[in-house]
Amino acid sequence: MCGCPSIPELMHDQIPETNVVALVKKSAPAGPLRVDFSKIRRDGFQIIRGFGTDLVHLEYELSSISGGKLFYSDRIGSFVHQFRVLPYSENLSEQPTCGGYHTDFMFQARPPEFVALLCLHPDPRHPLFGRNQVVPLHAFVERLNTIFGVSETDLMTIGVDYTFTGKLPISVPILNQLDGKSILKLHTTLMADGKLSAFDNLPLKAAIEAVCGEIAENLVLDRGDLLIISNHSALHRRSECTLTFDSTCNSFRSREMATIRFDL
Ligand SMILES: [Fe+2]
Repeated sequence: MCGCPSIPELMHDQIPETNVVALVKKSAPAGPLRVDFSKIRRDGFQIIRGFGTDLVHLEYELSSISGGKLFYSDRIGSFVHQFRVLPYSENLSEQPTCGGYHTDFMFQARPPEFVALLCLHPDPRHPLFGRNQVVPLHAFVERLNTIFGVSETDLMTIGVDYTFTGKLPISVPILNQLDGKSILKLHTTLMADGKLSAFDNLPLKAAIEAVCGEIAENLVLDRGDLLIISNHSALHRRSECTLTFDSTCNSFRSREMATIRFDL
C-alpha cells in the first residue's frame, strides 16, 4: 500500500479542500523522467526502475511533469510523505498487515489522479514480502460482470456504505463520474460489513478482495524503484510486511517508502 492516510485523515478528506493542489517550483537540476501516462491510465501503473532515493529529485521531477500539480498534505506538512512499517501504528500505511484494495482520498470530490511510490528500503524479507498489487479498472469491471453479472451502470448506482464512529454513514458507489470519465472510489478496509444482492449476497469486502486477488498485478520494487499508479483507473494495496530487530541500533528495520500524489 502507498502512503494511505489514517482514518482521522480520511474523515478530514470528506471536507472539500480548496487548497489541496498547490504549485511547486524547485530549482534542483534533474534529468527528464519518462512517464507513459497513457499506459498508466490503461494498465493502472508504470514502474521506473533505478530512479534513485533522492526525495528532492523525486519532488522536482514530479513537479516538472505535472506542471506543479502536487497534492500538499496538511497533516504531513509536505508534498512528500515518507513512511515506514512500524511494530504498531494507527496509520494504515505503517501497519505490517496486508492492506485492503483501495483508492487514495476517495472521500474527496476530486481525488488525485496519480500516486507515485518510491521504494527507499525494501522489506527485510524482500522480495517475498512488502510487494504492491494493482488492479486496473477495465479488468476489475469485466471480472465483476463475468462473476456476478453486475454492469457498469450497477457499479455507478449501487452505493457502498462506509461507517465511522460518531459519524453518519457515507454511501459511495464503486464507479463515479469525474470530468466525463468513470473513476474508481473504493476502500475495502474501511467498508462497512454487509452483503449486497448484486454480489450474490456474499460479504462485499470478501467478494471484492477475492476478485482483486485473482486479477491483480503483483509488483516487486527494489530500492530506488519508482511506481506510478493511476488512482482513478486502478485499485492498489500493499501486501504483508515484516520487521527485523537490529540490535546494533536498537530498533526495528522495515520497508520504507515515500509517496507523492499529483494530477496532470
Ligand atoms: Fe494507497
